[in-house]
Amino acid sequence: MEINITDIPQDVQQAKMRFGIVGNAPALIAAISRAIQVAPIDLSVLITGESGTGKEFFPKIIHAFSARKHSKYIAVNCGAIPEGTIDSELFGHEKGAFTGAVAARKGYFEEADGGTIFLDEVAELPLTTQARLLRVLESGEFLKVGSSTVQKTNIRVVAATNVDMLKAVEEGRFREDLYYRLSTVHISIPPLRDRGADITLLARKFAADFAEKYRMPQISFDESARELALRYRWPGNVRQLKNITEQLALFNAGDVVTGQLLGSFLPPSGTVYTPAVSAPSARHDYERERELLFNMIFRMQSEIDALRSEIRSASQPVHTEPVMPTSLVRYAPPAEAGLIVPAAPAEAHPATLEETEKETIRRSLENNGGRRKATARELNISERTLYRKIKEYGLE
Ligand SMILES: Nc1ncnc2c1ncn2[C@@H]1O[C@H](COP(=O)(O)OP(=O)(O)OP(=O)(O)O)[C@@H](O)[C@H]1O
Ligand SMILES: [Mg+2]
Repeated sequence: MEINITDIPQDVQQAKMRFGIVGNAPALIAAISRAIQVAPIDLSVLITGESGTGKEFFPKIIHAFSARKHSKYIAVNCGAIPEGTIDSELFGHEKGAFTGAVAARKGYFEEADGGTIFLDEVAELPLTTQARLLRVLESGEFLKVGSSTVQKTNIRVVAATNVDMLKAVEEGRFREDLYYRLSTVHISIPPLRDRGADITLLARKFAADFAEKYRMPQISFDESARELALRYRWPGNVRQLKNITEQLALFNAGDVVTGQLLGSFLPPSGTVYTPAVSAPSARHDYERERELLFNMIFRMQSEIDALRSEIRSASQPVHTEPVMPTSLVRYAPPAEAGLIVPAAPAEAHPATLEETEKETIRRSLENNGGRRKATARELNISERTLYRKIKEYGLE
């Protein structure tokens, strides 16, 4: 069921416009509405939803519609900070607290006093940091690393995660008391596949944005493309749709995109999705590693296919099929869509899995100009895992 746009409350329209949120699906409107409702009340909020659903808009809405709007808003990606420094980043440290602490430093909880702190990928917090966070949530008190003086701060915490927190609690990776404390209010963001006509609205918006960005004629979508987009699972949600629209906008500028063309940008037809039985957070490290390997194999396979067709077309006098540059064959569906089962390579690959992994990370880093956040996102691993792998393979 679609909501009539005129039925959308004015404050929700305002938030959508201010943050550039596109969509009228009832579940999305309800989530925005809930964020606005809870904004003035100083409760902790937990935002959950699959990867790429747009969770990062919500803490901003909450801050903007709260009395704290003129104070600081600090967003922290908990998965990106190495375990050894996270306490000091969040809570600060005293001079000499550890080797290299040449001066005292304020943490984000002190910096954002009076404002809002957004803890993204909160499930990645180490247990020791979870204990400190619980204390600050319960009493507003914290200790700098290396200090025994209790400090006070007045902060609103909004956290987000794309993992199954209850499973993380069950497995002892996340404190139960902290989970309940953080999720006083819970806002769940719907996956793109459940948003019906929003998919085409978003595709049109991204097509217009990229046409403007690249100063190229705008692409449009025919009925077969719309049908495919509505049927497809969009495991990477809005991020995946945006990514694909960008590639289409660049390489098919001005074209009418058909279902066939759109399909060629989606994972190969041989690809099988195993519907996710549980949310990804629940997985053990070894399972994450396995997913990483699968994604890598999938990516290598795509690159081999692309190379093969490049060689094929180079040996033909006339191009019969469009060839996508290898650098663009880089979409790795996120883990929560279930594992990707790649088609068996036609030729045996002499490289070991480790070599494959190393090479894939190296290429991804290169593609992303060395930016770790973008690389981790592309490979669908946490920045911490990426950091570890970079060290392990000496890729610095
Ligand atoms: N409704 C929407 N309208 C416009 N853009 C959107 C919408 N939802 C998401 N996006 C865009 O999609 C991309 C992914 O969104 P975002 O980074 O918020 O995802 P996320 O839920 O935080 O994912 P992850 O769990 O992987 O961090 C961003 O570029 C965001 O601007
Ligand atoms: Mg995010």
